Amino acid sequence: MSEAEELRRVAEGLRAMPKQIDSKYFYDQRGSELFDEITTLPEYYPTRTERALLERWAEPLVRRLRPASVLELGAGSARKTRVLLSALERVAPDATYIPLDVSAAFLGETARELRAEFPDLRVTPIAGDFTEGIELREPLPRPALFALFGSTIGNFGHERAASILRHAVEHMEEDDHLLLGADLRPGPSKSKAELEAAYNDSHGVTARFNLNVLTVLNERFGTDFHVPAFEHVAFYDEAEDRIEMHLRATSSTSVTMPGAGSVTFAAGETVRTEISCKYDRATVEEIFACAGLTVDDWFDADGRYALALGRPAE
Ligand code: SAH
Ligand code: AVI
Repeated sequence: MSEAEELRRVAEGLRAMPKQIDSKYFYDQRGSELFDEITTLPEYYPTRTERALLERWAEPLVRRLRPASVLELGAGSARKTRVLLSALERVAPDATYIPLDVSAAFLGETARELRAEFPDLRVTPIAGDFTEGIELREPLPRPALFALFGSTIGNFGHERAASILRHAVEHMEEDDHLLLGADLRPGPSKSKAELEAAYNDSHGVTARFNLNVLTVLNERFGTDFHVPAFEHVAFYDEAEDRIEMHLRATSSTSVTMPGAGSVTFAAGETVRTEISCKYDRATVEEIFACAGLTVDDWFDADGRYALALGRPAE
């Protein structure tokens, strides 16, 4: 997509009801670093919960599936993925790892670090937007394991989530699998308060991550958001089963977008910057079915977080 088309879509989002910004714009270099910092916060349970699941299940899974390649959508720093890659190194030392991410410079750093840590692994990063499809540069060594960790899928509504998974399915063959990390809804082992605290940490890192999106837009498109005029807001919407993150204007403010007019915010008005959907097994099964996948296995951390293993439906 051209920069002009992207800016046109950003402007459209800011004129929509409710005002919204695509969450992919969080992830410039600073945004990727801030997200990495979030993953170390005591309140942000998803990362350590998924890591514990990978520590328990990666080795048996890799022994069972024997992948010759792993293609990870939204790999980021791939810190947790190292658990999977270590298991892979033991089973298939010459396997290929293809991290795909929209945050291109950060992805380059991840690839360099991984090559140093796993000298036998072929690491072939792809910078790209997975909502627009997956463009492979060479055939995937088979069997392939697709991965989408961190509950990144939750940052998309169910239709877009199915469409992203479908992009993976388009590249899948019979013996390939997809491993999806999915944060689960509040229940006996996770309160709504715990969920909300994960997005309102006491160190203010999530607030900085949220506000950074305005700086990204200013630097990338020449918009003039006055960042100090906004504050971080995050809450769990029980009707929609999702966290919503917003930026709220603390006083009346406006933004001008080069060639795309201007938008005014009344004091107290918000722009939604992210949704983070929370799942149960039935919902993951529905999304898988829409994408052409069936659930092969389900690894659950006490109803708090799950890894769902999918394979192409017959
Ligand atoms: N998988 C890592 C990182 C999760 S953060 C983990 O579990 O900790 C979400 C990641 O997805 C970021 O690295 C971000 O840059 C990437 N991302 C977000 N939207 C994307 C898109 N549309 N296309 C490609 N990557 C995207
Ligand atoms: C990447 N994604 C799954 C994170 C989430 O939990 O929705 C992004 C994030 N937003 C605030 N904290 C973390």
